[in-house]
Amino acid sequence: MKATELAKGVYWTGAIDWNLRDYHGYTLPGTTYNAYLVKGEKTALIDTTYPGFENQMLDRVKEIIDPEKIDYIIANHVEIDHSGGLPKIAKMIPGVPIYCTKAAVEGFERHYDTSGWNFHIIKTGETLSLGGKTLVFVEAPMLHWPDSMFTYLAEDEILFPNDAFGQHIASSERFDDELGIDAAMEHALKFFANLIIPLAPKVLKKLTEVGGLNIGIKMVAPSHGVIWRENAGGIIQAYADWSNGISKDKVTIVYDTMHGSTTKMAQAIAEGVIEGGCEAKVCLLKDGRYEGTHRSDVVKEILDSKAVIIGTPTLQDEPLPTIAGFMSYLRGLHPGRLTQKKKGFTFGSHGGNGGAVRLVEDDMKKAGIEIFREPIEVFYRPDEPEIEICRNAGKLIAESVKNQ
Ligand code: FEO
Repeated sequence: MKATELAKGVYWTGAIDWNLRDYHGYTLPGTTYNAYLVKGEKTALIDTTYPGFENQMLDRVKEIIDPEKIDYIIANHVEIDHSGGLPKIAKMIPGVPIYCTKAAVEGFERHYDTSGWNFHIIKTGETLSLGGKTLVFVEAPMLHWPDSMFTYLAEDEILFPNDAFGQHIASSERFDDELGIDAAMEHALKFFANLIIPLAPKVLKKLTEVGGLNIGIKMVAPSHGVIWRENAGGIIQAYADWSNGISKDKVTIVYDTMHGSTTKMAQAIAEGVIEGGCEAKVCLLKDGRYEGTHRSDVVKEILDSKAVIIGTPTLQDEPLPTIAGFMSYLRGLHPGRLTQKKKGFTFGSHGGNGGAVRLVEDDMKKAGIEIFREPIEVFYRPDEPEIEICRNAGKLIAESVKNQ
């Protein structure tokens, strides 16, 4: 595949990783490592690729310019999916200035042998003129690493925010309108749910800061997935909405089961949710026995919901391992950092002592989810009155969050 022109003198020169299916616990249909070449009188390369993909990137660069003639490297982020090509480039172009944050220098020194690397530490507002193209740098610490920064190309009004606004997808399409806006937004939602939720307050602060600069943003060119050219404003607004916890009238029920009792309870709760006027999404966690839903897809549903209800049987006085692992993931994401909190409760069956529902409830509190009611726990099999309790609980929580 050739380099793709975004605007005159601005090119996507990244790499496509068609085969990646799991990225530290996030399932994905491949991804892209987006690098961009900006050519004025001088030339800058913005970001590189995961180690092993740098030749794919350099082949695309060669269509535009001899890579040894690159004048500047802009390193928006240390993580190796964007900096893996730096060692080769720094060796190929000795002394090439590498523009990055102070924290990035410390990060690169921990990742690579940086002897001879020519770092230039940027501060927010600093500019770099390429002659006809001006790059403006904005530090973005903890969006999502301490070293992160955004680069803005003033003449073409293109924002290069690295991971922010990205999507994990491998495709032949380079732009949102080519892939389809709905598909691009769905991938961006999953990316936000799995990586950005805990940073929501920082996202809102940064959006306010960038909004205050009064700059136009015609395109958002992230470091993964398609480039937002048709819906640049839409994805920025979506980040504000998702950070604020704005979601559908929807309730996600996530659970696992041993012999089907917790399944019956989940189904009754879902019926109540629908009766209460909300969309219900029921997710049996995937654990190898069932073709269930992977946790990285479940959190996407939760981000899009106003309530989350979690079910587990009790096994050896603990939740099932699938649910325990999921709760660890959810605590880390901490949806309580979204402006508008989610509500929820727990349910499940037991044979022995029971009590797993209380442990899961504790985890829900730690994740910042507001507890709507007492856990519903049944002995062995739920009988008809208990099924009715489940149905009614689903109805009440749906009525409570609807139109919130
Ligand atoms: Fe934080 Fe895509 O790396």
